[in-house]
Amino acid sequence: MPEVLKAGRGLELRPLNLRDAGALFALVEGNRERLRRWLPWPDANLCVLDSRAYILRMRTLWRAGLGQSFGLWWKDRLVGVAGFNWIDGANRSAAIGYWLAQDAEGHGLMTTAVSALLRHGFRTLKLNRIEIRAGVRNRRSRAIPKRLGFRHEGTLRQAELLANRYVDHAVYGLLAEEWRIRQA
Ligand SMILES: CC(C)(COP(=O)(O)OP(=O)(O)OC[C@H]1O[C@@H](n2cnc3c(N)ncnc32)[C@H](O)[C@@H]1OP(=O)(O)O)[C@@H](O)C(=O)NCCC(=O)NCCS
Repeated sequence: MPEVLKAGRGLELRPLNLRDAGALFALVEGNRERLRRWLPWPDANLCVLDSRAYILRMRTLWRAGLGQSFGLWWKDRLVGVAGFNWIDGANRSAAIGYWLAQDAEGHGLMTTAVSALLRHGFRTLKLNRIEIRAGVRNRRSRAIPKRLGFRHEGTLRQAELLANRYVDHAVYGLLAEEWRIRQA
């Protein structure tokens, strides 16, 4: 199984493990209302068994090379989740998804975590393209790819049905060659 990614600023990305299920569920429970505004799954995550099932599913995806999900640990506590929601090995392409607990917002933690995922994705996984999709009105989420030099590639109209309304997605993409130039 995969490595721990040290992201700087005291933040570590650790592959989600079954022993994290209790902490993960407590975090979802404490942030349910704000998460369901932008993410489809909180309504289907209603007890610790659902968090266990999510972790098991992500570990299966990981073993198959189809996804990777990390718990974000800061000051010795779980503060969120980030990773590759899907990996398309044939096209060396992947999509990053993320969420943070409310009391961990505003410190630059997710920007730091995504930066570590880019390094891992382009260097270790040898990806050529990484994308991030965010609801067009999700200002905090859109700010992350913008900060990290992604290009806004367009809008997918009514891409997701969230809480009975269709949400347009802004699509951001970053290519390996663009990332390398920014590192130089
Ligand atoms: C999207 C989400 C992860 C963004 O969290 P965030 O805290 O705004 O993002 P970061 O952790 O990168 O922090 C950025 C903030 O910290 C500040 N900051 C402080 N130090 C910083 C640093 N070194 N680097 C970057 N930002 C820093 C930034 O100014 C910014 O604050 P501001 O928006 O008030 O200007 C969070 O709002 C969330 O989980 N939302 C609900 C779920 C969700 O929408 N997920 C995404 C679905 S597409």
